[in-house]
Amino acid sequence: MTIHIIADSQEKISHLRGLLGPQDVTSSLLNDATGAPKSTDAVIVRADFAVARNLVTLKALLPKLVKVDRRIFLVDGKNRLFVSQAYALSATHVLDNYVNGGKLLAALRQADTPAQSQPVAATDPAQEASVGGARSLGSMFSDLRSGRPIDVADAKAAAAAIADAIAEQRLTNWLKTVRHRHEGTYQHCLLVTGVAAQFALKIGLPGADVERLTFAAMLHDIGKAKIPLAILDKPAKLTDQERTVIETHPAAGYDALVGSGVSDEVLDAVRHHHEFLDGSGYPDALCSESISDVVRILTISDVFAALVEDRRYKPPMPRPKAYEILCEMRGKLEAPLVGAFKEVALVL
Ligand SMILES: [Fe+2]
Ligand SMILES: [Fe+2]
Repeated sequence: MTIHIIADSQEKISHLRGLLGPQDVTSSLLNDATGAPKSTDAVIVRADFAVARNLVTLKALLPKLVKVDRRIFLVDGKNRLFVSQAYALSATHVLDNYVNGGKLLAALRQADTPAQSQPVAATDPAQEASVGGARSLGSMFSDLRSGRPIDVADAKAAAAAIADAIAEQRLTNWLKTVRHRHEGTYQHCLLVTGVAAQFALKIGLPGADVERLTFAAMLHDIGKAKIPLAILDKPAKLTDQERTVIETHPAAGYDALVGSGVSDEVLDAVRHHHEFLDGSGYPDALCSESISDVVRILTISDVFAALVEDRRYKPPMPRPKAYEILCEMRGKLEAPLVGAFKEVALVL
């Protein structure tokens, strides 16, 4: 594997070279960086995100960075803003500045599987839409965490690009692209958006509803920006207390978006995507007659995407098994819609 280091000081480069040991490593100082050599498998970026100029330089390098399959950013892991900014700058992995050599090599090795090392054409619409979507999500999460207004127009455009990519290349390609290239909450939101877009195509939703649904899917978990990362990315079962914290995210997302120009239908979907027809969901314990069609479709897409996503602590569940689980949620999800979803889940 060939690795390229970009860092804002020679000391950081030397430190990283020391951690990597006998690997095929090249490096450049951030100020001199023009991208990574052509055959690079992974790029490691370490720079002080408190220095605005570093962020500007990295942003300018983005078109070059996204050509590398795995992009590992090292930042102050306790600073949620920096973590969000790293993802907004197209990181596929974010590790702490003080990561040890073992963890760093483990992250690099994840890139060394056949599915992840396939070269991606620069014009691949799924790749372009996934990078744009992750960037939009990263900006929104970072804006929300630092109290700035969210750029909803950017999210709308990103959702439309995903819907176009799905129409062109179908869901299987989207799952492959997103699962291996984005982590955690961003991967989840991108998957939900793609699944919802494919579902909308399958059931022949009118264009305006497709737009509403995919936009809602992009925004649906934005309230997770308010949840501590220790809970959000916990690789084990949540305690009751932690679950209560997680369950605040739909209302937090709704509160963040009210007054931002987002339509009532989309606000409704953000707030109610965890409601179930039998009244057992949250935050408002709505019953079937109060749950809109867009919300019903979004909820099915959300549950399915959560099952098939690829987390470091959870391999993706096979799609037939995930569909079986949806079918077992009788009374909670709309049965005819779950029936119509079969083809999305299993075939496309
Ligand atoms: Fe959610
Ligand atoms: Fe979700």
